[in-house]
Amino acid sequence: MSEAPSKTLTVVPSSTELMAELPLHWATPASWARRAADDLPTFLADHAICEQQAALFGLSLVGHYPEDRDLVVKMSALAAEEVAHLRRVTTLLHKRGLELQGRRPNPWVHRLRQHLQKGDNALLKVDRLCLGALIEARSCERFTCLLREIVDRDPEVALLLQDLGPAEKRHWRLFIELARRELPESEFEPRWQRWLEIEGHLSQQGGIRPTVHG
Ligand SMILES: [Fe+2]
Ligand SMILES: [Fe+2]
Repeated sequence: MSEAPSKTLTVVPSSTELMAELPLHWATPASWARRAADDLPTFLADHAICEQQAALFGLSLVGHYPEDRDLVVKMSALAAEEVAHLRRVTTLLHKRGLELQGRRPNPWVHRLRQHLQKGDNALLKVDRLCLGALIEARSCERFTCLLREIVDRDPEVALLLQDLGPAEKRHWRLFIELARRELPESEFEPRWQRWLEIEGHLSQQGGIRPTVHG
């Protein structure tokens, strides 16, 4: 469920507090946040496409697994929420005289996708849900990291990020709960840990572009 937009800024969690609530193995350095803060038009245009892609990803899972009622209900709701996020980012872009940009390469997602199980089977479903969890968790981490950097510089963007960080935190948990149903814990946990290692390794090579996953 999408919450009403915040009207006031609250205390931003420290990196340590945030990482304690996320499964991620590697914390984004403050240098990335400074880079994104110095180029908010690029960040926001990329952010809008991330929200659009998140909605499409949720809907694609509904298309892949129409017999899974729990997934259909939760991913439909998630897609609606991501569209609401897209609308908020788009409104802010337009207010600043900026336009949406079209699809652009997202090397981080592209490289993660290369690790999906091949073939349309039960393990691919688990992997797609783990991928969704990773995208949401890293997005939450990046939004909060940038929020810490701009909270005193750009209250308008800060309010947006203050709302969206916690939403994406809910979303990674939603994906991982759906994924956990698919395998016995003894098989699921090593698979999830392998995903986290891959993501951590990939992210350590990033932090160099002012985009959500750059
Ligand atoms: Fe979102
Ligand atoms: Fe999300």
